[in-house]
Amino acid sequence: MSRSAHPAGPRHADVLPEGHYSAPPADLNRLDPKVWSRTVERDEQGQLTVGGLSVTRLREEFGTPAYFLDEDDFRARCRAWADAFGKDADVFYAGKAFLSRAVVRWLKEEGLNLDVCSGGELSTALSAGMPAERIAFHGNNKSTDEIHRAVEAGVGRIVLDSFQEIVRVAHIAQSLGKRQRVQIRVTVGVEAHTHEFIATAHEDQKFGIALAGGQAAEAVRRALTLDGLELIGIHSHIGSQIFDMAGFEVSARRVVQLLAEVRDEHGVELPEIDLGGGLGIAYTSDDDPREPHHIAKALTEIVSRECEAAGLRTPRISVEPGRAIVGPTAFTLYEVGTVKPLEGLRTYVSVDGGMSDNIRTALYDAEYSVALVSRTSDAEPMLTRVVGKHCESGDIVVRDAFLPADLAPGDLIAVPATGAYCRSMASNYNHALRPPVVAVQDGEARVIVRRETEEDLLRLDVG
Ligand code: LLP
Repeated sequence: MSRSAHPAGPRHADVLPEGHYSAPPADLNRLDPKVWSRTVERDEQGQLTVGGLSVTRLREEFGTPAYFLDEDDFRARCRAWADAFGKDADVFYAGKAFLSRAVVRWLKEEGLNLDVCSGGELSTALSAGMPAERIAFHGNNKSTDEIHRAVEAGVGRIVLDSFQEIVRVAHIAQSLGKRQRVQIRVTVGVEAHTHEFIATAHEDQKFGIALAGGQAAEAVRRALTLDGLELIGIHSHIGSQIFDMAGFEVSARRVVQLLAEVRDEHGVELPEIDLGGGLGIAYTSDDDPREPHHIAKALTEIVSRECEAAGLRTPRISVEPGRAIVGPTAFTLYEVGTVKPLEGLRTYVSVDGGMSDNIRTALYDAEYSVALVSRTSDAEPMLTRVVGKHCESGDIVVRDAFLPADLAPGDLIAVPATGAYCRSMASNYNHALRPPVVAVQDGEARVIVRRETEEDLLRLDVG
């Protein structure tokens, strides 16, 4: 039975299990800096402002639903990651979390590299001027066309995900008269403590080549013999939204063990290891993510210690944070359309977006916070469920949230920490028009991805 299936029958949300939601916060008007981006505050009128602009003003100009991205926050997070890892390591922003040409330019300016995992992401990166050598190309089933484009463009590395791909990339590189720098993605057998669908390093899943059974060692053997490839290192990504460093510790230890085996067998010390992304962020006030400098310190210490024990030179480390950079930088602004109190249960608050702009709640049981942002209120807290406007009862944006009891149609509410995997996973379900992404900085707002229009939908439908 599926994880979230329930027997058919009348019972849906009618029984709230014990401990299903926490107590209401002491102050519903407070915007917890843990979950809101750094320039967010309330002005004297009680409105949320970001980059100095109020939500009512932003709504007038850009409409709802819309994602508002705090550019200063994004840049500051890039710098924090780059500074934390320093000159002897590389930070690759994982574009799958959210990618646009403006973002690529910011990354370039802030000195970050970029991880892409499709031809579309590659084109976006190149068209915004990211130097190809600063791009890593990922994916468990890259097409020959994608590989061809990546090699031709001169990407800094391709991360090989299967035995077939080792040969494919070597062949394409050779046909182009090139030697492609590659890493091999291994699965280290770690179960990250996260949702099953976003954990990626246990063995029973589609990514990478298992360390177990000598498979990764065999992959290294093959890669080293092929002229079209320059094997620069080993890659491991253990999952997403991880808070606990223990998984990274085991992963680093196992990757270093492989490096030692490679040295013993081939007399080659591979110069790099990539520990992937996956660092968690605060979606609610209960989450306690680590700062980049803690993460950098912990990871570099683990790798140096293990290398020293194995008598290896410490390789250059790279990491691939996506969510931890862009996640906290944006919020989604919605207008309340209907408010439906259900006696003894909760109040359903319908907004003008939903699972088409944030699929994470439906897909991963993700938790989010929400706040009334067009005004403050002294009304009592009421238990709500914030839902979208789609024809589906699983269309939930925030499963359990307290909002003031005087909430009414026309109010604006905002869901923080939607910068990662919301616009990038948005859909046109029910022919919804995907919302714009608006970058805000120093009293100025500018659309970086525009709102879809019905003409956009009809253009794809060739009739
Ligand atoms: N590197 C690799 C090889 C990855 O596969 C991923 C994410 C990352 C880096 C970045 O992970 P992050 O730091 O953003 O957690 N849609 C899911 C997350 C899927 C992540 C897939 N790979 C979600 O909404 O939670």
